[in-house]
Amino acid sequence: MDVVIKIFVALHIIGIAALLGGFLAQMKSLRTGEGRMTPGMLHGAFTMLATGIILVGLNQADGGDLNHIKIGIKTAVLVVILGLVYVKRDEEKVPSGLLGAVAGLTTFNIFLATIWT
Ligand code: HEM
Ligand code: HEM
Repeated sequence: MDVVIKIFVALHIIGIAALLGGFLAQMKSLRTGEGRMTPGMLHGAFTMLATGIILVGLNQADGGDLNHIKIGIKTAVLVVILGLVYVKRDEEKVPSGLLGAVAGLTTFNIFLATIWT
């Protein structure tokens, strides 16, 4: 079970790479307001949700005790991220502030995950 949890933590991190990487790769277009919500960002956000839920299940099955308040906040933040990326997925360009919000919220969740143990 332990190794399965570790594999899903790794997949969880690959999800972050796709979500945040989509933003980082477009930093230059932010100045001209020509950034967009790329498919990779959407897939990353979905990956976060799927692997996150699976990780909660695996930890429960393993008898581990998770910080449920932390998980709740992370889920709420991700729902906002997913909403933004999903709704704007077909737009040729989105306001840079929206892309910044996605990146900021993702970063917030990363620090929440690592600092609040
Ligand atoms: C059910 C599973 C998935 C399907 C059916 C799928 C499908 C696709 C398709 C069709 C594209 C091309 C979109 C386009 O350029 O118009 C794409 C791009 C991409 N996908 Fe996925 N994908 C899946 C899962 C994932 C996962 C798990 C990741 C990583 C966590 C991922 C990351 C990416 C990335 C980085 C791109 C590059 C496109 C970009 O961001 O501009 N995908 N995928
Ligand atoms: C953008 C959204 C998210 C980010 C950036 C994120 C980030 C992280 C990171 C960096 C870790 C590894 C460090 C650690 O173990 O604490 C982690 C673990 C974990 N995440 Fe997430 N996460 C997100 C969303 C979610 C969601 C929505 C859920 C649940 C539905 C979730 C559940 C978990 C669980 C269960 C673990 C491993 C257990 C543990 O904390 O020891 N995550 N997350």
